[in-house]
Amino acid sequence: MASYALVRSANFLLVVASIYFSPSSGVSQDVLATICGQTQNQETCEKTLQSDPRTISADPPILSLISLELTMKQVDMNFNAFSQFRDNTSDLALKIAFESCVTLYQNMKDILRADYKLSQQGKYDRITDLGQLTTLAYNCENGIPSSISPTAGITEDMLLIAQTAVYTNSYVAGS
Ligand SMILES: *[C@@H]1O[C@H](CO)[C@@H](O)[C@H](O)[C@H]1NC(C)=O
Repeated sequence: MASYALVRSANFLLVVASIYFSPSSGVSQDVLATICGQTQNQETCEKTLQSDPRTISADPPILSLISLELTMKQVDMNFNAFSQFRDNTSDLALKIAFESCVTLYQNMKDILRADYKLSQQGKYDRITDLGQLTTLAYNCENGIPSSISPTAGITEDMLLIAQTAVYTNSYVAGS
């Protein structure tokens, strides 16, 4: 009886130890909350990161890559959308504004490509320009001469994923 209880409590300790000390247990909900709590929309940030199946078992380096890949995906989507808006409109002022957005999003692609390389090399402290993505997305949207912007939604999505990447990578740099 006594030895049975001993085995049981030893098993219990092992389970507890593996939860708390396993080096490969991945990012916890606490880590996601720490990162996403700094963005304007914690819930969307967490959902976005969790949309990648690797997140649940990701260590910080993988989480950095995931955040950058998700940001690149949104930048590519917006780049294509702004290109289409530019090609579709016959309003010259709008065409110029959308063309400027295409250029800004090309800059964002270049920034992300360089940061992705730094992340792969583990040089997280050199990933310092992700905040610029927010500025460039604002510059694009603010240039559109329309009271009801057709692109406000995708700009909003871009701002949020950019914030997610900023705080993910500053977390990884400090961890
Ligand atoms: C642009 O025009 C094409 C062809 O008519 C259409 O399929 C596409 O949805 C349009 N894109 C936008 C962003 O309006």
